[in-house]
Amino acid sequence: MQDHINLMPPTELDEIQKATEKIGFSMPSDAQAGSLLRTLSASKPGGLFLELGTGTGLSLAWILDGMDKEAKVISIDHDPELVSIAQKIFEKNERITILCADGDEWIPNARDQRFDLIFADAWPGKFRLLEETLALLKPGGYFVIDDMLPEPNWPEGHAEKAQQLIADLENNPELVLTKMNWSTGLIVAVKKSDGQS
Ligand SMILES: C[S@@+](CC[C@H](N)C(=O)[O-])C[C@H]1O[C@@H](n2cnc3c(N)ncnc32)[C@H](O)[C@@H]1O
Repeated sequence: MQDHINLMPPTELDEIQKATEKIGFSMPSDAQAGSLLRTLSASKPGGLFLELGTGTGLSLAWILDGMDKEAKVISIDHDPELVSIAQKIFEKNERITILCADGDEWIPNARDQRFDLIFADAWPGKFRLLEETLALLKPGGYFVIDDMLPEPNWPEGHAEKAQQLIADLENNPELVLTKMNWSTGLIVAVKKSDGQS
């Protein structure tokens, strides 16, 4: 089995990749993570999804590709240049809301919303405000993170932060999780149904 062929990428991907290269965006999500997100999104018909850290919209395109016609997605990023690229690409799609917002402010204000899948791809939602973000997940919902395998360009102290995040997820009695040494290092956690923790 080859995991990098026949991925059947979303139609928008080529355009987004060109825009990503043009501005030199250095933190794009990869196709394996995208493919997993698409599969998980397809498992939640009519679902409401959240992405923290839109970037130029690469992983958003994969999430959209898995969504059915009733599903909706909100994606946020604090960088106006990145947000404007993603907004332009998805401007005709009413099922996508892309917001230019700071995750550290947005997450606490979203406390009344519940999501079927959260892709936490920015520091807020992952290394900060983890509990608050997990509280936004419906029972049975997915919490997905990538970039958990060590990289040579990790700043000092980041490996310890990553280990702490993994331990926090492992020790959370409300979660069932799988760690994958694949792609950039992915974790998929599912929130147990009410009363199971
Ligand atoms: C790893 S990149 C996201 C990649 C993206 N998901 C993709 O598909 O390519 C992380 C993103 O988080 C955004 N970010 C960092 N800090 C943030 C914050 N406090 N609030 C919102 N977005 C933030 C950055 O601007 C960056 O685009």
